Amino acid sequence: MATIIGIDKIGFYSPEYYLDLTDLATARQVDPAKYKIGIGQDQMAVLPADQDIVTMAANAAAQILDQADRQQIDLLIFATESGIDQSKAAALYLQELLQINHQARAFEIKEACYGATAGLQIAYDHLAAHPTSQKVLVVGADVARYGIATAGEVTQGAGAVALLITRQPRLLGLQQPTAYYSEEIMDFWRPNYRDTALADGKFSTAQYLRFLDLTWQAYRAKTGTQLTDLTAVLFHIPFTKLGLKGLRQLTTDLAAATKESYFDYFQQATGYNRQVGNLYTGSLYLSLLSLLDQQQLAAGSKIGLYSYGSGAVAEFFTAVVQPNYQQTLQVACHQQQLHQRQRLTVAEYEQFFMQTGLTDDHDFQIKRQSPHADFYFAGQTDQRRI
Ligand code: CAA
Repeated sequence: MATIIGIDKIGFYSPEYYLDLTDLATARQVDPAKYKIGIGQDQMAVLPADQDIVTMAANAAAQILDQADRQQIDLLIFATESGIDQSKAAALYLQELLQINHQARAFEIKEACYGATAGLQIAYDHLAAHPTSQKVLVVGADVARYGIATAGEVTQGAGAVALLITRQPRLLGLQQPTAYYSEEIMDFWRPNYRDTALADGKFSTAQYLRFLDLTWQAYRAKTGTQLTDLTAVLFHIPFTKLGLKGLRQLTTDLAAATKESYFDYFQQATGYNRQVGNLYTGSLYLSLLSLLDQQQLAAGSKIGLYSYGSGAVAEFFTAVVQPNYQQTLQVACHQQQLHQRQRLTVAEYEQFFMQTGLTDDHDFQIKRQSPHADFYFAGQTDQRRI
């Protein structure tokens, strides 16, 4: 049997609080249709003070890891652009919380929303190069913060996606080669002195689409793949309208009847994203989870994935659906997580937003606000996390 390397399990966690974007539109005196149709988002997750990238990542990964996984993981990659420490990798906190094997490399990587894809490709290379290695855990966790009453406010969100990468995976086999492109541009960034991102919004959306064209053309040239070889195409989803623009750009030359199924799959593939908002580096993989949870795909179907991280790096790659993949998904768990969230008023959301700023207090305690979460941030003693 040929060796396949890919995604064996996917875990997902998003905060237990959300804001309905109709409420936000009313508060900001904007037509709700702008947010729901123009931006393509319905709700956004709001981070309480007792969650951060480490606890969200632990909550996502704990869903999927059994005892054997914890012993067999020898590489743990934590992708984030919402780091909590300038030196120590969030991966080490995660390793400890989840009791993952100490004979493992554990580190953090950053390249905006592209980080988890970098992690995924490193995971692939690691398993391809080391026959005795068995499993890699890649986690993407972020908090998308632009600020109250900014243009980006409606495109906020928070959450974590955990991917277990193995040989003979049960969900998706990753294909090589892939196509990637990077170039230094100022479309979105967050200097160390800020806890909210800076974005040249319209420019960033244009770059996302430009990089899509560059990587898709490069992918076609490298592999001879045609769009019609792909059953569905998934996108990094900072907000669903941008993915939709990407799909329109890719499918412009297709006949109307052929186009339709790509748009149907796109609707399925953005269901969770519409409710959670931007997860930054986890967004593409949340879209993948939306598609897998809601659609019965035939084994062998090929899916295209477009990853984009501002700054900027992009990659186009493909993955093949594995037989009986449905048996590995925890659909009820994902849906229950979203259904049991509490809706906040705009005033409460603004209060939550202000709470999660930076502090240099040596000691503090945080009241528990996430009753359903296995892991939560309880504060600091002598500048050490609890
Ligand atoms: N009904 C329906 N649609 C309406 C409407 C109404 N009443 N009013 C406006 N709209 C539509 C507009 O026509 C527009 O649609 P098109 O894009 O199709 O033209 C859309 O709503 C957005 O409206 P604006 O053009 O007025 O845009 P805005 O000033 O509200 O800003 C934004 C939108 C630039 C996305 C802003 O939210 C932003 O800066 N977000 C953060 C940056 C971002 O997410 N960039 C994405 C690429 S970078 C990336 O991908 C990395 C990452 O995750 C950040």
